[in-house]
Amino acid sequence: MSGAGMAGMAGVGGAGAGAGGASTSPMCKTTPQTLKEAGACSGRLIGTALAASHLNEAQYQTTAKEFSYATPENEMKWGSVEPSQGAFNWTAADQIVSFAKTNGMKVKGHNLVWHSQLPGWVSGLGTADQVRSAMVNHITQVMGHYKGNSTVVAWDVVNEAWENDGSKLRDSPFSSKLGTGFIDEAFKAARAADSSVKLYYNDFRADGMNAKANSIYAMVKSMVERGIPIDGVGLQMHTGTPNPPSTPADVLQNLQRITALGLEVVISEMDSHVCDGLTSADQKQYYHDIVAACVAVPMCTAITFWGASDKYSWLNSFNETNCAGKDPSGCLWDANWMKKPAYNGVLDALQGK
Ligand code: G3I
Repeated sequence: MSGAGMAGMAGVGGAGAGAGGASTSPMCKTTPQTLKEAGACSGRLIGTALAASHLNEAQYQTTAKEFSYATPENEMKWGSVEPSQGAFNWTAADQIVSFAKTNGMKVKGHNLVWHSQLPGWVSGLGTADQVRSAMVNHITQVMGHYKGNSTVVAWDVVNEAWENDGSKLRDSPFSSKLGTGFIDEAFKAARAADSSVKLYYNDFRADGMNAKANSIYAMVKSMVERGIPIDGVGLQMHTGTPNPPSTPADVLQNLQRITALGLEVVISEMDSHVCDGLTSADQKQYYHDIVAACVAVPMCTAITFWGASDKYSWLNSFNETNCAGKDPSGCLWDANWMKKPAYNGVLDALQGK
């Protein structure tokens, strides 16, 4: 992709900088030195995915301190937390929350109900009542474990429920046993478990104005109209084959229509690999323009990157890209922990430049 398709977006951040919330955060500096400082000036959290297995590495720790928000990359998923029915293992998840707390970061819990990384016992449940009971118990126990902890401020309640083409919900133990109503049920259980945290629906390949984004928009609009307790939508923003990048103009339009419903929106898992031919200048421009789109929308409250360094990116082992034999290079820091041009694109956009 060239930067040409992004015409009109450069500088869009200027309109929104400061609109996202208080500009009095002590983290807001005249000349921001970190992403979190730049984000604080417009009241936005700037996040990264964290993996517990790397938290003791010095360079990993240093880079994590660039961020004000963390999403556990795998440690809060169903298979990690409740591998056997009713037997919960909090060790790795608690390590992330503790690290975040120590470093002044907030955490978005990820995730409660997802078809993937689901232990076999859930798929083996035979009746709708059993699935409902397991789902509600899982939500209640996991959210309850972190309830009252001022660090965990939001949850991805339902993750990636839609098929890639947006034509229908994916087949999963939840959709097949409970029908489409499982999403409403999950959000109701989440609100009952903790009324003080934000509840999100999170999905990928729905960043711009496409069929899947339309389906998700229609779903959350209906949820709002019916009083189902949802606070926001996470647009993941993993871009590059197999996920075609949306133009920043389309992303802006999608952010605007979702927030017009009274919902928050967050960029929840951004990385943009270069294996389809992006130069590092293109990558910098794309990162800049997507972040600028968020900064232009007052209710776009957080931007999370899916890992900081290429060294540990999930893209390195994802085989549906065009990256065979190449470095996906989708993150803001390279594999040697050097900041890439894309980092400066993000820093600029966060300051409305
Ligand atoms: O922990 C085991 C380890 O014990 C084992 O030896 C090893 C062998 O394969 O696997 C390890 O588990 C892997 C896990 O990551 C932790 O490294 C899984 O195989 C691997 O599938 C898993 O991948 C994660 C993927 O979600 C699973 O779907 C990625 O790290 C994680 O970045 C990715 O994150 C997802 C978001 O949750 C949702 N949105 C898309 C995003 C990217 O796929």
